[in-house]
Amino acid sequence: NCIFSKSLPTPLKGPLRLAAVSKDAIEGVLNVDTAVTQSDEFLHYASGGRLLPGSVPLAHRYGGHQFGYWAGQLGDGRAHFLGQYTNRKGDVWELQLKGSGKTPYSRSGDGRAVIRSSVREFLCSEAMHFLGIPTSRAASLIVSDEPVLRDQFYNGRVKTERGAVVLRLAKSWFRIGSLEILAQSGEIDLLRKLLNFVINEHFSSINSDDPDKYLVFYSTVVNETAHLIAQWMSVGFAHGVCNTDNFSLLSVTIDYGPFGFMESYDPHFVPNSSDDEGRYSIGAQANVALFNLEKLLAALRPVLSQKQQREAQIILKGYVDVYQMRIHQLFKAKLGLLDEEEDDGYLIGFLLKMMEDTRSDFTMTFRQLSEVSAQQLHNRNLTQMWALEDLSSHKLFSDWLSMYLHRLNVNPRYVLRNWMADSAIRKAEMNDFSEVELLLHVLSSPFVTQETAEEAGYAARPPMWAKRLKVSCSS
Ligand SMILES: *[C@@H]1O[C@H](CO)[C@@H](O)[C@H](O)[C@H]1NC(C)=O
Ligand SMILES: *[C@@H]1O[C@H](CO)[C@@H](O)[C@H](O)[C@H]1NC(C)=O
Ligand SMILES: *[C@@H]1O[C@H](CO)[C@@H](O)[C@H](O)[C@H]1NC(C)=O
Ligand SMILES: *[C@@H]1O[C@H](CO)[C@@H](O)[C@H](O)[C@H]1NC(C)=O
Repeated sequence: NCIFSKSLPTPLKGPLRLAAVSKDAIEGVLNVDTAVTQSDEFLHYASGGRLLPGSVPLAHRYGGHQFGYWAGQLGDGRAHFLGQYTNRKGDVWELQLKGSGKTPYSRSGDGRAVIRSSVREFLCSEAMHFLGIPTSRAASLIVSDEPVLRDQFYNGRVKTERGAVVLRLAKSWFRIGSLEILAQSGEIDLLRKLLNFVINEHFSSINSDDPDKYLVFYSTVVNETAHLIAQWMSVGFAHGVCNTDNFSLLSVTIDYGPFGFMESYDPHFVPNSSDDEGRYSIGAQANVALFNLEKLLAALRPVLSQKQQREAQIILKGYVDVYQMRIHQLFKAKLGLLDEEEDDGYLIGFLLKMMEDTRSDFTMTFRQLSEVSAQQLHNRNLTQMWALEDLSSHKLFSDWLSMYLHRLNVNPRYVLRNWMADSAIRKAEMNDFSEVELLLHVLSSPFVTQETAEEAGYAARPPMWAKRLKVSCSS
């Protein structure tokens, strides 16, 4: 009465094909031999045609704020929760089918998913996992010949596509909207019950007797959401539909829909072509997450005292600082900057501005900066460094580069060793000032490998005669 409704999957109509499995999810999460996925039993299980004994499939009721407004009751409209699965490590995972047919929450939908969106969800869940970003996982993708009608571009042109089902895994599929629906409809006992369940199951560091447990829970979600969004930003990931029902209470990435990885750097990048206002542009994600956390606080209000509500406000205010700190850390790491220097924020901001102006590729600019040698940069030899080639067309590139190289380098290649000075002096006394000039040139870029310096042996083992050199005060 109700957080879940019993709901049976509608099996995908055959012939069925196992289009893909994630070995890492099957073996690493479920601890099942991948060979099992080749069986008919698996094919039917993972497409909604067979249940394990004792399994009671469920559809979850939730609500949510969509595009800024309360949308009322939503719920799993095409997903079925099959049960909890405890793996060898003792970790509990929730198995869910997506595209497995109608549920009590389908509204006008047909409960199906097409190959197009299922392939995207399957690949991106696993890609995010391997990027080290908290996410739901995808174990298998099964496609069928079952026709599914879709109006892909919302232009009235209905096309027949084919149905598919993804078996997806998460530690929990509860969303901010899971709590919102209960608070909004005054189901406060149920709200408390669900919160206690989520805290007991998933927030083991929170003591269930702690009178501030809901506050600690909130603080954890605020912190982890800030970290998650910063991680999205560090790989240029735009989720595309950051509604409160698409935001996990465990702060893992869920609901892969019209997501996109930004190519040319552009803070206004919007992956969903119908999102004309750019509400969920990549650059808006940090603020949208803040909005969602405000809505979470609103949902918790009925179970918080006045004092706790004030404290929760303060926690929420801290979100921006946590986010800024994390994003700064991540971008410093992308640029290979160790320690902390005052101008680091400026160096990063300067680079991003040049990337925006030159529309440089987000992923490859950082990657190539980590692969190119200082010498290649110095010589502007950017052969095969296509993203850096774009970036280097910026009129301030040299300025940024010298700042960057300076910041990056802590180990010079050339210093004025005694023998080098001595050699230059001997020539100078014969009115040959070429080596003085050469040294000046070389030592003005002490961190960059230079051909003439290498030829002169300035980075080589010092000559034997250098050992005999003595320098007196009158020198
Ligand atoms: C915030 O979350 C991050 C990421 O999960 C974690 O590493 C960090 O310890 C958390 N900080 C606090 C103060 O809980
Ligand atoms: C995200 O939430 C919206 C409702 O806000 C829902 O219609 C949609 O299915 C969710 N997106 C995905 C990819 O599941
Ligand atoms: C894309 O944005 C439009 C406009 O805001 C919205 O109606 C639609 O649901 C979004 N698409 C998806 C798949 O969420
Ligand atoms: C430019 O860099 C590439 C890759 O390191 C190298 O093979 C090539 O010799 C360099 N060209 C010049 C002119 O230095």
